[in-house]
Amino acid sequence: MNQLSKKTTVTVRKQYEVGEPIVMLTAFDYLTASWLDQCGVDIILVGDSLGMTFKGESNTLSVTVEEMAYHTRVVSRGAQHAMVVSDMPFLSYQTSSEDAIRNCGVMLKQAGAHAVKLEGGLAMAARIHAVVETGIPVMGHIGMQPQQVMHYGGFPVIGKDRVAVEKLWEDAKAVQDAGVFALVIESVPAAVAKALTARLRIPTIGIGAGSGCSGQVLVTQDLLGFFTEFKPKFVKRYAELAGTALRGIDSFVKDVRNGDFPDEEHSYALGDESLLKSLDEIFS
Ligand code: KIV
Repeated sequence: MNQLSKKTTVTVRKQYEVGEPIVMLTAFDYLTASWLDQCGVDIILVGDSLGMTFKGESNTLSVTVEEMAYHTRVVSRGAQHAMVVSDMPFLSYQTSSEDAIRNCGVMLKQAGAHAVKLEGGLAMAARIHAVVETGIPVMGHIGMQPQQVMHYGGFPVIGKDRVAVEKLWEDAKAVQDAGVFALVIESVPAAVAKALTARLRIPTIGIGAGSGCSGQVLVTQDLLGFFTEFKPKFVKRYAELAGTALRGIDSFVKDVRNGDFPDEEHSYALGDESLLKSLDEIFS
């Protein structure tokens, strides 16, 4: 497939059918979106993880529909080729099918998304079906669902005993039957995610779910090393941008305090000798 063609649910489906891994990364701003786009990322997820990476919260629960619409709009401008998927925030779709359709619709009608992502398995299947039926493509999300953080008391690995694996299978089948075009599987043992992927008829996109999925997603700030404090086991750091940024900012602070910035190279010259001589007179 031409890397520069526009990615859609149809091209993602084709990638899945020919066994080409699907690459998804998160963005919440224009510049990051355009970097991901230039690198041939298939899907840019405007993840509600921005509650943590952008807003500095400890979980995703406070994120609103308005915030997601705003970030989706700026990301869409940077995504010339990639498909843009908006994460639907907590309580924007759980309350009723009517709320779900209205709020998901905002992302497509006003914000430029091509699809939305909804967390939840069997319990959300009817809701997902209602949204899909209106013409809005939905990506599902099972396994560890960050919007259930208060039930979990943290961000656990899901599917480590027989009951949990059976529940995952039930959830996966339910959202597949509800019409999702792809399914995120988060924080699930690799063998379980591989078995699910082999039995489903839709692409799976793993995060902390091993190599047996049809594609992979990471939070871009994690893989670029924006954070130094915390690194989940499944995150591989491909850059250490926090260190680079801190060194740059620290040097700027020192240069300003020492009077080393701005120097002549970074200042505008007047370029008119006679005017230069007259400055004292003008400002007297
Ligand atoms: O919000 C997010 O970034 C996500 C990914 C972790 C899949 O849902």
